[in-house]
Amino acid sequence: MSRRKPTKGVKHTAGLEMMDRIRIVGGNKLDGVIPISGAKNAALPLMIASLLTSQKLVLNNVPRLADVRQLQLILENHGVDITAQPAPGSDELSGQCLEFSTPVISDTCAPYELVSAMRASFWVIGPLLAREHEARVSLPGGCAIGTRPVDFFLDGLSALGAEIEIDEGYVVAKAPRGGLVGAKLRFPKVSVGATHVVMMAATLARGTTIIENAAQEPEVGNLARCLIAMGAKISGIDSPRLVVEGVESLHGAVFDVLPDRIETGTYAFAVAMTGGNVLLANARPENLRAALDVLELTGVALEEEEGGLRVIASGQRARAVDVETQPFPGFPTDLQAQYMALMTRSTGTAKIRETIFENRFMHVAELARFGAQISVEGQVATVKGVPELQGAQVMATDLRASVSLVIAGLAAKGETIVNRIYHLDRGFERLEDKLSRCGAEINRLRD
Ligand code: UD1
Repeated sequence: MSRRKPTKGVKHTAGLEMMDRIRIVGGNKLDGVIPISGAKNAALPLMIASLLTSQKLVLNNVPRLADVRQLQLILENHGVDITAQPAPGSDELSGQCLEFSTPVISDTCAPYELVSAMRASFWVIGPLLAREHEARVSLPGGCAIGTRPVDFFLDGLSALGAEIEIDEGYVVAKAPRGGLVGAKLRFPKVSVGATHVVMMAATLARGTTIIENAAQEPEVGNLARCLIAMGAKISGIDSPRLVVEGVESLHGAVFDVLPDRIETGTYAFAVAMTGGNVLLANARPENLRAALDVLELTGVALEEEEGGLRVIASGQRARAVDVETQPFPGFPTDLQAQYMALMTRSTGTAKIRETIFENRFMHVAELARFGAQISVEGQVATVKGVPELQGAQVMATDLRASVSLVIAGLAAKGETIVNRIYHLDRGFERLEDKLSRCGAEINRLRD
């Protein structure tokens, strides 16, 4: 049974930064090197995977982000002991090295106060159920970019034999006697989170699990490779059909968080917007090919170098290119807002279709404050390029939308103030520092 205890550290860690703002004076080109951090969306599931073993999981290249700190609190609540180790290599390029150790799971309940701050924390349900055969996890919160239900998770875990009920806003899941049982299942739609969770749960199930229509995002491959390093038996990695053969137990491992493809794309779009020449150090272009292909069509030169990806742009207005978001390997929804910022100054009209989330155009109203001309009909935004953006007071609405406002501000004439930037701190490490080192006039205002 769940061993309840008082929840510690329930305050949202980003709370202290809630009043911070970012000030940008636009117009400077970007020149230099931007080190790409470890991917938030890879680090979170890897951290959660530490619940699957009683041995040590050591993760290198973990980014210093509010979401990572929040997940640390959640894991500590389950009894995970987390210690920071000296990072190998230079601090700036290698991120943090965190060691996770969970000899005993002390609590199988993930309370509302902790889970509501970040949707991905719901994913603990998979390992808790697999290892402890029970979990009580609050229904999730996270970015307000759509309803984001959890039906695929629950159907997937039910397929593995779990009994599931909803009790006062909590999902209560119990495995059959002897634990979860392998099964064949097919997701009706590609879901990154549901793939992570069912794959983690299946590693300790009896028998073989086949997941059809699995997400192929690089972060899923990163997690699968880490689970294999921990002793899991998984094949079909990077394909839509994952096969997981359950094992008795998993063991410790040392593993590297993959470089962040969304951060890479974000800075590439920023350079496209301002002009300049920037090396995105550690970037892995193969993980964002669709977005880079579009970027080249807009008129940007890209060079793959040993140390990363070089982005060279004239600063002239971009060519307009239509885009539709798709699961990997398609154009990522997490770059849609940033791409829209680039298109606001294009020489033509671009149509941007969002197919993953039904409510992911909140940045449109904010981009309009810069003088952008955007109209939205259903899932399609039509962006008519204007010659110049004007600096403005804007408000960040979600993680990726926030950074689109920064990109617009970098190219706009005059001063921009981005309010409510705690979203940015959830997902972008040292953003102002990385950009100002390349010549941007950008700083944080603390109230
Ligand atoms: C992850 C990423 C997020 C990214 C998204 C899509 C992390 C921490 N977050 O979010 O940055 O934007 O993938 O690439 O990695 N859905 C259902 N039922 C479910 C689960 C999902 O209908 O049970 C729907 C969602 O509402 C959405 C679509 O499936 O329309 C894809 O969502 P999903 O891939 O699950 O997104 P996340 O894993 O939450």
